[in-house]
Amino acid sequence: MYNKGLIVPGLIILVLLVTFPFWFDAFSATKSTDPTVEPPPGGEQHCIYPADEMRAEHMVILNEWRDDVLRNGNRGTVTVDGKVYGKGLQLACMKCHTNKEEFCDRCHTYASVTPYCWDCHLTPTQQKAGLKEAN
Ligand code: HEC
Ligand code: HEC
Ligand code: HEC
Repeated sequence: MYNKGLIVPGLIILVLLVTFPFWFDAFSATKSTDPTVEPPPGGEQHCIYPADEMRAEHMVILNEWRDDVLRNGNRGTVTVDGKVYGKGLQLACMKCHTNKEEFCDRCHTYASVTPYCWDCHLTPTQQKAGLKEAN
């Protein structure tokens, strides 16, 4: 038992639904782009390396730092363009990017990544709440 009168409209609706993401994006004023990430508070103008480099490489930098500290026992600082940084999330990144939720999380949610670092390392919010870190 087919109702011919419903098949064609049904197919049209199906096609519209399936292609929804494409035409919605084409007609919508807010195109999906990278999330806007806030510059850190405190008036800092520059990251450790140029922003595009940080965007692509920050996970690699963090891993290198961790390995250097924990595997090579090298707790020394790194100097970039005459500025001295401690090798750590708390020791460097979060000093400028004090809002992990609005900065790191916003971008990671967009990119569907969940770094597990915060299982152990404290966020500035947790630090303010008085929690102590292992180091
Ligand atoms: C001295 C302060 C400071 C430190 C320390 C710092 N940042 Fe930044 N970061 C900034 C500033 C300021 C910008 C924006 C720079 C720009 O737009 O040119 C930025 C930009 C970035 C960006 C690019 C954001 C975008 O616009 O797409 C990423 C990712 C980033 N930082 C991650 C990190 C990580 C991870 C660390 C630790 C390894 C870190 N930052 C340490 C100040 C800092
Ligand atoms: C501009 C967007 C952006 C911002 C801002 C950003 N990240 Fe990321 N981050 C990414 C992307 C994209 C990946 C995944 C890259 C990949 O898988 O190759 C990532 C991956 C990571 C990883 C590795 C995760 C894993 O499982 O391998 C760490 C660690 C990390 N980010 C830390 C931070 C920290 C800390 C901050 C805030 C200070 C931050 N990121 C801010 C985009 C961002
Ligand atoms: C299972 C717990 C755990 C997880 C998960 C973890 N860390 Fe750590 N990390 C530690 C401990 C503990 C130390 C400090 C050891 C010390 O100071 O002797 C440390 C130290 C570090 C250091 C050296 C500087 C410092 O703060 O002492 C860096 C850099 C670092 N971790 C980065 C990361 C990053 C990036 C991630 C996520 C990709 C991560 N860690 C995930 C436990 C963890």
